[in-house]
Amino acid sequence: MRIVLVGPPGAGKGTQAAFLAKNLSIPHISTGDLFRANISQQTELGKLAKSFMDKGELVPDEVTIAMAKDRMEQPDAENGFLLDGFPRNVSQAEALDEMLKVESMKLDAVLDLEVPEDEVVKRIAGRRICRNDSAHVFHVAYKQPKREGVCDVCGGELYQRDDDSEETVRKRLEVYHTQTEPIIDYYKAQGLVVTISALGQVSEVTGRAMEALSRDA
Ligand code: AP5
Ligand code: ZN
Repeated sequence: MRIVLVGPPGAGKGTQAAFLAKNLSIPHISTGDLFRANISQQTELGKLAKSFMDKGELVPDEVTIAMAKDRMEQPDAENGFLLDGFPRNVSQAEALDEMLKVESMKLDAVLDLEVPEDEVVKRIAGRRICRNDSAHVFHVAYKQPKREGVCDVCGGELYQRDDDSEETVRKRLEVYHTQTEPIIDYYKAQGLVVTISALGQVSEVTGRAMEALSRDA
């Protein structure tokens, strides 16, 4: 399956993607995670991306699309993928359509996670991520690690993302409304959008997503 996951910052895209990718046996491709890996390796791409991410702005399309394309061309993505955070505006969506068309492929579904704004603010404020693996995501209230500041999975140090400050989160939400939400209409016109509520326990949301994907995709 080829799926795009869309939703505001803090909706739980990364959290759900980890379970969905496992259940569906497809790789989880997150452009945010790819940028953060470049930042920690101090690559040129990482330096460029950080200057935009710290302000809550989108990284320029040219580099983002090239990075996403490169990742989607890896052998593990041959039979499907779950895209998280890409595409993030209409020109990226058009570029993705073009890439798929060249390979005679198409998307199966666009899963839209709906969450009220006050909830995403709470989720982001309490989020803590493992330095060793960005798939190890915790929350100070909703998903507490057994030992404060320590990852349950691998013992790594938990940290707060630089772009999770209140001011940057406000900017990221604004960018989501103005630049990313229009892709939902773009994909609705292709009959691909499946909207589910992302409120409730993580496992409930995963169940809702799996049910919606098997029904509509
Ligand atoms: P990116 O990394 O994609 O961030 P985002 O879209 O803002 O999304 P988040 O990672 O903040 O949230 P999430 O929805 O994954 O939530 P999570 O599962 O962690 O992008 C960051 C930046 O990179 C962008 O601002 C941009 O600069 C750049 N970028 C990335 N892609 C780009 C692109 N295509 N083009 C240009 N620029 C790009 O959950 C949040 C918290 O809530 C966690 O603590 C979790 O434990 C908790 N939680 C999750 N689910 C639940 C639940 N059901 N109940 C209670 N708590 C929950
Ligand atoms: Zn860890």
